[in-house]
Amino acid sequence: MLIRNCRIVGSQGVREGDILVEGEKIVEVGRGLKGEGEVVDAGGRFVMPGVVDCHVHVRDWDEAEKEDFVSASSAAVAGGVTTFLEMPNTKPAVDSLDMLKKRVKLGVEKSLVDFGIHLGYSPEIAEMQRIDVPSVKVYLDSLTGDDVESVLEDAGRLPYPLTVHCEDPRIIRRNIEFARDSDPEDFLVHADIREKLAETSAVKIAAGLAKKTCKNVHLCHLTVPSSLRYLNNYTTCEVTPHHLLLSDVDLQSQKGFAKTNPPLRPRLNVHGLWKAVKAGRVDVIASDHAPHGIEEKGGDVFSAPSGIPNLDVMLPLMLDVVNRGGLALTDIVRMMCENPSRIFNVPGKGFIQPGADADLVILDMERETEVDPKQFYSKAKYSPFTGRKIQGAVDTVILRGRVAFSEGDFNVRPGFGRYLYRQL
Ligand code: DOR
Ligand code: ZN
Ligand code: ZN
Repeated sequence: MLIRNCRIVGSQGVREGDILVEGEKIVEVGRGLKGEGEVVDAGGRFVMPGVVDCHVHVRDWDEAEKEDFVSASSAAVAGGVTTFLEMPNTKPAVDSLDMLKKRVKLGVEKSLVDFGIHLGYSPEIAEMQRIDVPSVKVYLDSLTGDDVESVLEDAGRLPYPLTVHCEDPRIIRRNIEFARDSDPEDFLVHADIREKLAETSAVKIAAGLAKKTCKNVHLCHLTVPSSLRYLNNYTTCEVTPHHLLLSDVDLQSQKGFAKTNPPLRPRLNVHGLWKAVKAGRVDVIASDHAPHGIEEKGGDVFSAPSGIPNLDVMLPLMLDVVNRGGLALTDIVRMMCENPSRIFNVPGKGFIQPGADADLVILDMERETEVDPKQFYSKAKYSPFTGRKIQGAVDTVILRGRVAFSEGDFNVRPGFGRYLYRQL
């Protein structure tokens, strides 16, 4: 396959040229290339590596009615996400070798795109043979109980990099007590319960552990600019589109549909987060795609589950930011393709270069759309971005050298996706 007439985007810049693909791999990038077989004319449009989304909740198994590998990976393809790393807080959880094997088996049967799975932390991992996973995921907010320091120290002794959800459960629990008599329709109570201090406290502990043990620790979905002061040479950090593009004003108006953990923050705080992103202090933008049932999202502040489905729209939302001058396309490729691939050792992904998998997205930076969750491929057909007008869209998606999505049509089936880490 030859993809002609591209404006090829990498973190270091944009260059005009062609991309020659043999089988599943890119073999040459340059001008005036000749090749046999299918020719795709990009018509001078921007071509970027497929997004590597390192933070996705798929839900399959007991919560498959919320999302499964087919629906999540379809949303991914349509949204320009060609690789995802799944989080292990499934029901049941993926926190042992046995469960990981079962999960991989399900994923390779059903996923349209290539994937990896973060292994959920449990004390038993220490007894397990060393396996190849992107990281071990630690949830500080609920699953690990109150003894935050000792859980992190135990996890820190494991021979794996860590990925951490940073919200100090002790602070959250104290605030839940205070909030007991609150108005259940006042969604700002959610932000009060999960106050900024809960995040900064947990970030301080997790980043401190990284430094003490010289272990790589990836800090998920940071929302508070002052969390960043704790970062060091062993930490990397991530932000989400919703924490960048929404605020607690949206939480107030959209209620359960904008309820997420950590919560949406006040506008001044969002402004501070943007400053950090623009200053290059943030490594990754990831979706934290966290689908739930539309009925339960309509519940009150205490009952509505937390999480926002983003796979269908994350890249278009960020392209709109580019069109409005907020970031450059090179920044998008750095934070959404190259860095996640590097941080989690994702083989063959995130770069347009010889030897890499031909996972490519041709962009249409002119096209204007309006976010309409009824058209999502995710099963979660709601969004706090509903009605938002955006400019910038995914035109064509190529998966390992095959045109997989073009003009709304899929040309790839469940089961095309592969597990990306060494076989178990
Ligand atoms: O809002 C959230 N939802 N935050 C998380 O960390 C977990 C996620 C989920 O799994 O629903
Ligand atoms: Zn989380
Ligand atoms: Zn998450």
